[in-house]
Amino acid sequence: MAIRKIAQIGHPVLRQRAREVSLDELASADFQRFIDDLVETMRDANGAGLAATQVYEPVRVCAIEVNNNPRYPYKPKVPLTVLVNPVIELRTDERFDNYEGCLSVPGFRGVAPRATEIRVTALDRHGAPIDRVVRGLTAGTFQHEVDHLDGLLFVDRMVDPKTFTTWGEFERYHQAAFVERAKALVARFGE
Ligand code: NI
Repeated sequence: MAIRKIAQIGHPVLRQRAREVSLDELASADFQRFIDDLVETMRDANGAGLAATQVYEPVRVCAIEVNNNPRYPYKPKVPLTVLVNPVIELRTDERFDNYEGCLSVPGFRGVAPRATEIRVTALDRHGAPIDRVVRGLTAGTFQHEVDHLDGLLFVDRMVDPKTFTTWGEFERYHQAAFVERAKALVARFGE
């Protein structure tokens, strides 16, 4: 396994639509090693998720894991989930204001409205189907990661650019109010 370099906002790889992965490709030793690298890189950088495009591989794969994350201490735990060829369907018109960060937009955060309930269909890393409903704060994490595979970053989803902030000023001026909103969501949805 290896820790990969993470692409930074402005690099064109972050702006392209990643391509679907075939079952044969997914089963190959090389591709399985790539998924190991993606997970290891996410963990090394304390990411809540990481998309393949962020490590310069334009394929439709992303990893999500939240486990006592120092970058996002209010996020509910999510066991390691690898999504291959994910498709998200929004199941509600309701949105919540998610204060997001991204390893490809280092040092900054901003508010992206996210659906409170989604359905995600995908393959797991072994090619088995995933079909689940995800709600609350965790639904925001899934939407952020799958956006990467369509060349979108959270800054594209920001409705109010004035919410854009450094991490330091987020902690000073915005974190307390956001954590209250986040806790209410987690209390309501359990995730
Ligand atoms: Ni990101």
